[in-house]
Amino acid sequence: MKSFVIAIDGPAGAGKSTVAQLVAQKLQYTYIDTGAMYRAVAWKTLQQQKPVTDALVLEVVKNIQVSLQYADGKIMVAVDGKDVSREIRTPEVTKIVSQVAKLAPVREKMVLLQRQMAAQGAVVMDGRDIASKVLPDADIKIFLTASIEERAERRWRELKGKGYKVDLAALQKEIAARDQADSEREISPLVQTADATLLDTTGMGIAEVVAVILDMCR
Ligand code: DC
Repeated sequence: MKSFVIAIDGPAGAGKSTVAQLVAQKLQYTYIDTGAMYRAVAWKTLQQQKPVTDALVLEVVKNIQVSLQYADGKIMVAVDGKDVSREIRTPEVTKIVSQVAKLAPVREKMVLLQRQMAAQGAVVMDGRDIASKVLPDADIKIFLTASIEERAERRWRELKGKGYKVDLAALQKEIAARDQADSEREISPLVQTADATLLDTTGMGIAEVVAVILDMCR
């Protein structure tokens, strides 16, 4: 089989990273989680222990080294050489990540890295602007979504599994707010491109979604 570049975009909680990781594993491709990169910048910003302003984020992004390593089906995210794979998934990081991701210098630095990582092909990359901006020539473009209720419930289960106590209604509101921020920002907003296949996973299991995507690669 020819090796493909697969772009998966969609709103928060659509299951992009779970599905993209499994597809990458099956095809023995590299998985690139671009959301993790914006989370890494957000995490380092919080480490400064200062009010989160655009100026602070821009200062942080100037000197940050973000690297992604994908091995044994797991993704490792490092900031300045430190493994922060767990730290970037906290609710505190999630709360400020849209604010961080809307800034042009942040996006420019991350997009450059993302393109470098995808340069050899055989990659699955997920995010918000992969088909529209990062890899417009991707062989397969998927817009993965699900109802807001189901996305909130999936995130709720995931956070509960990690030991967080979260209110489902509050989580739904937060996801809706993040979707709005990500879709309405000026630079590279979340969009479904005309050439992307819409995959609404409401009511679908993970294995089923993975099978649909693998079918598209055949
Ligand atoms: O997929 P995620 O929830 O880990 O992404 C975290 C945030 O990063 C998301 O709210 C928007 C931003 N993001 C982005 O702007 N562009 C991407 N390609 C990926 C994520």
